[in-house]
Amino acid sequence: MILAFGYYLVITALILLFTIFLLILTISLYVKIKLEPVKVVCTSNVRLDGKIALVTGGNQGIGLETARDLAARGARVLIACRDAKKAAEAIADIAATTGNNLVEYRPLDLARFSSVRQFAEDFNSSYDRLDILVNNAGCGGRKPKLTEDGIDEVMQANYFGAFLLTNLLLDKVIASKPSRIVMVSSWVHLFARLRVENLHKFGGIGYLGQFFTYSNSKLCQVLWTKALAKRLPEGVTVNSLHPGVVKSNFYQSIPVIGRKLVHFLCELMYKMPKEGAQTTIHLCVSEEVEGVRGKYFMECKEAEYNTQADDDELVEQVWYKSLKVTGLAEEKLSVHLSPAFYVKQKFEPVKGVCTSKVRLDGKIALVTGGNQGIGLETARDLAARGARVLIACRDAKKAAEAIADIAATTGNNLVEYRPLDLARFSSVRQFAEDFNSSYDRLDILVNNAGYGGRKPKLTEDGIDEVMQLASQLLRSLPAHEPAAGQSDRLQTQ
Ligand SMILES: NC(=O)c1ccc[n+]([C@@H]2O[C@H](COP(=O)([O-])OP(=O)(O)OC[C@H]3O[C@@H](n4cnc5c(N)ncnc54)[C@H](OP(=O)(O)O)[C@@H]3O)[C@@H](O)[C@H]2O)c1
Repeated sequence: MILAFGYYLVITALILLFTIFLLILTISLYVKIKLEPVKVVCTSNVRLDGKIALVTGGNQGIGLETARDLAARGARVLIACRDAKKAAEAIADIAATTGNNLVEYRPLDLARFSSVRQFAEDFNSSYDRLDILVNNAGCGGRKPKLTEDGIDEVMQANYFGAFLLTNLLLDKVIASKPSRIVMVSSWVHLFARLRVENLHKFGGIGYLGQFFTYSNSKLCQVLWTKALAKRLPEGVTVNSLHPGVVKSNFYQSIPVIGRKLVHFLCELMYKMPKEGAQTTIHLCVSEEVEGVRGKYFMECKEAEYNTQADDDELVEQVWYKSLKVTGLAEEKLSVHLSPAFYVKQKFEPVKGVCTSKVRLDGKIALVTGGNQGIGLETARDLAARGARVLIACRDAKKAAEAIADIAATTGNNLVEYRPLDLARFSSVRQFAEDFNSSYDRLDILVNNAGYGGRKPKLTEDGIDEVMQLASQLLRSLPAHEPAAGQSDRLQTQ
């Protein structure tokens, strides 16, 4: 009876183990097929002689292989991490394999803000440039622990420490344009559960909590990449990536059986550190990604990321929370003190061009303030399309010059000047009366004229001058009934 029960227990345990093994194998195969069906290699031959690169966590794993590749291209490489002994071994190894002796170690503990600040101070006083900054260092799977700064250790080492470091080094990065910032994130950022107010706290209890803390830190890297891309001047690229599942000491903190299994699977189907470094290297050097900013990569290609990163409000919330947590909110920073970069990225990331080829022969267009600036260029374009263009403004001399200029550049002589002072109702009425008795149509009316920033002044009509100027003409001109197939256009600026 006891023997039968024992036999039954052994069989049940074996079936359970086999089921777990099958489950792990199925998940592993899914991840392999979905994320890394082929192992892509960075093919760029770019040299980096004279450039300075900083690789956090460059003493082992993916960071070491990244540092080795950058050194092989001739860069001076700084390895920043905690373990000085491992760093010395890495430097000797890199020198032996690449022949580059310009590789050095600088102590850095990303989980201590005082260490990050000390590192940045030393770096900024030693070097006048930073061409490539690789935020590679990271850890996970650790028991929740608060750092001396009162922050979850994994969140601080993976995210807040790198956030502080990068911001403190930004002046050097900007001074080295074209320069690059690379964030080594992870595919597991897809599983993050972010709560901005609790960003610096534990992600939860047990293994699941550790998983969510790590995922949150990696999503923060993706969100922060977006925030930086919006703020950095042209010439500085910033992108994030998933390196793949890589055999490294990263899995050191998980139970030995789990670690051995991951390493076995890495050897069987995933990656060794050199293979895991390829996307990082691609983002550091490849010509293909010159000017690419705020994107997420896998296998040297843009890849799908957590759609939370497309939520501009969340990106901004995380940015400002991070400034607060790292104590940067009060400091002078190249990025958050440059509203010009923000406005440029927010409103005019690219210069849009009207691509329409529509002709305007036989049409009449009126452009207020058409004797200079945007109005002149609008009038020129409409004239080039064959329209009769009326330029309405105060300065007759400038208008005559504009008309001559338009005629010379477009060959259209149907451009004329009509005096108009929008800050005087009598002038507007006079203009409208003249226009209405001269023409029986008005196809395009561009209310372009305008100014601001002047000392407050009342017009002869008793109205604030700037206010009166806006769009009075519009009301004075009767609406033109469009013929079939035509449309009326009113433009106000
Ligand atoms: N391996 C994977 O399967 C995998 C998958 C997805 C993403 N990643 C990401 O890839 C990056 C590199 O990982 P890896 O696989 O190369 O792991 P690894 O071999 O364990 O290397 C981690 C590096 O980070 C450094 N580091 C850890 N905590 C630090 C701290 N507080 N301050 C400064 N440096 C610190 C370590 O150096 P010291 O201990 O000397 O400080 C080490 O050089 C990490 O960001 C990781 O999240 C890895």
